[in-house]
Amino acid sequence: MQVFEQLLQNNREWAAEMVRQDKDFFHRLQDQQAPKFLWIGCSDSRVPADRITNTEPGEIFVHRNVANMVVHTDMNLLTVLEYAVKVLEVEHILVVGHYGCGGVKAAMGNQNLGIINPWLKHIKDVYRFHKEEVDALETFDQQVDRLIELNVREQVMNLAKTITVQEAWHKHKRPCLHGWVYGLKDGLINPVFDMEPGTHIDPLYEYNM
Ligand code: CO
Repeated sequence: MQVFEQLLQNNREWAAEMVRQDKDFFHRLQDQQAPKFLWIGCSDSRVPADRITNTEPGEIFVHRNVANMVVHTDMNLLTVLEYAVKVLEVEHILVVGHYGCGGVKAAMGNQNLGIINPWLKHIKDVYRFHKEEVDALETFDQQVDRLIELNVREQVMNLAKTITVQEAWHKHKRPCLHGWVYGLKDGLINPVFDMEPGTHIDPLYEYNM
């Protein structure tokens, strides 16, 4: 059997097991999804949204990219966000980084990664804003992990700068925004930053409603 065929076999076993536990499981999910959460996480294979939160299909709407970034010209992210907030009416958006993130590590260095460079420049900007605080830490690993926390906070604030979130806050008093960092060492999520609906940001970024 080839490696990818293992996935198909696992899938057949999983589907059968789900039906064995609950015969209506797929029927219920077939016609609609009503997730309460949008997850914006890192693409890292060790941080699967549903596994680490022990949730089922249908519970979390997911977008993942390298280093869980909210980039204002990323139509992929903006489309997911708009759909999650306006159509699915999610109550919470989770920006989930993870300690030891390779994307953040790479952004702190000078290696030429070709087509990856422009994406990492957004993380370099976050590093530049907080360079003094980060560089004051003793080891490189500590610096990386602090920047990961600061990056999550920055990306949550980027969400608050979008018209999608500002309109939803104004009209519906939702969603709440959360910044979390997952620990690869212990499997635990560290909540680092929250923004309630209506929180004021730098007026420069607040649109007229
Ligand atoms: Co990562």
